[in-house]
Amino acid sequence: MKTSATADLAPFETAALVRAVSRAPSVHNSQPWRLRVRGTDVDLVERADVVLPWHDPEGRDRLLSCGAALANLQLAAQALRREISTSFPSDGDVAATVHTRPGGAPALAELARYYAIGRRRSYRREFAPGRIRDEDLAELLDAVGEPTVRAVVPPHVETLAELLGFATRVFRADTAYQRELDAWTAHTFGRRALGAVDGVPEAALGDAPLPAAGLVRRTTPVPDDVRLAERLAAETLVVFCTDEDTRRAHLAAGVALQRVWLEATVHGLAGSVLTQPLHLAGFREHVVARLGLPGLPQAIFRCGQPVSAAPPSPRLPLSDLLAQDVPGGPR
Ligand SMILES: Cc1cc2nc3c(=O)[nH]c(=O)nc-3n(C[C@H](O)[C@H](O)[C@H](O)COP(=O)(O)O)c2cc1C
Repeated sequence: MKTSATADLAPFETAALVRAVSRAPSVHNSQPWRLRVRGTDVDLVERADVVLPWHDPEGRDRLLSCGAALANLQLAAQALRREISTSFPSDGDVAATVHTRPGGAPALAELARYYAIGRRRSYRREFAPGRIRDEDLAELLDAVGEPTVRAVVPPHVETLAELLGFATRVFRADTAYQRELDAWTAHTFGRRALGAVDGVPEAALGDAPLPAAGLVRRTTPVPDDVRLAERLAAETLVVFCTDEDTRRAHLAAGVALQRVWLEATVHGLAGSVLTQPLHLAGFREHVVARLGLPGLPQAIFRCGQPVSAAPPSPRLPLSDLLAQDVPGGPR
């Protein structure tokens, strides 16, 4: 094995990086990423061929997903005792490049988050009664670590309930939107019926009402505004905001979201993400104005004490994650 200051990543190290990226959350579990390993550098490649024209017309969630994968990639490289720096090419399909070199052991907080990667799952259920402790919430918010991202607990849950209720009722009645969602979630037809290893399995969605539901389908109960406000008030919500709507901002929001989600997992908490309502045209501007948010909302994270284990979602074979132009990558 090489031990020089610029030692290339060994196959076992590449395998650890690929596994960590594979476990990242992604919009509709679409896993829109590949890795390209070049010596000591790793490119996280955005798969622009993964498209969700109705849910994610601008590809914002795809980049947030790549950001979540980047957080895992960084943690895995640090767990391999690599010192890292990250660069962001301004064009092309590379979302970010993680540069590594042999370093020391990571901080305990990073190591704990790395070990939480395999335990984190989307928890689309109601939480145990009682909000999370203020000390835990403070540690979750400390995990953001991205200067351009502000994670805030939204004030005025009544207003938020009114807005979320409206947006999700629009999506529930939108036939084209629901057709696309079926293709990514239904297991009797669509991608999963064909044995796909992406998409959200029925068991992971469950039949809870909003906000636990996460994704509103034709049959998902959306409580009236008063009831929804009560449900929101019983949970801990964190909204991730950025000043800009750029590629870099979306990646940073995804990184921050995943760090907070992993930190919640470290604390024995569970959570899920809501972006569906944020894709209704003009919706985010309303949310900013009515809730006084410090930037454009990119994702809403709900978090609490789990009452049961959430089922896992499938993943693409690890070999599919290595870019085709890399020796050993998929053909
Ligand atoms: C950018 C992004 C957007 C997401 N949007 C939603 C959403 O609106 N509703 C939802 O229930 N889950 C959402 N998710 C969660 C994914 O569906 C989930 O990560 C994926 O199905 C994999 O499952 P896992 O989180 O259990 O690993 C989102 C995840 C990401 C990264």
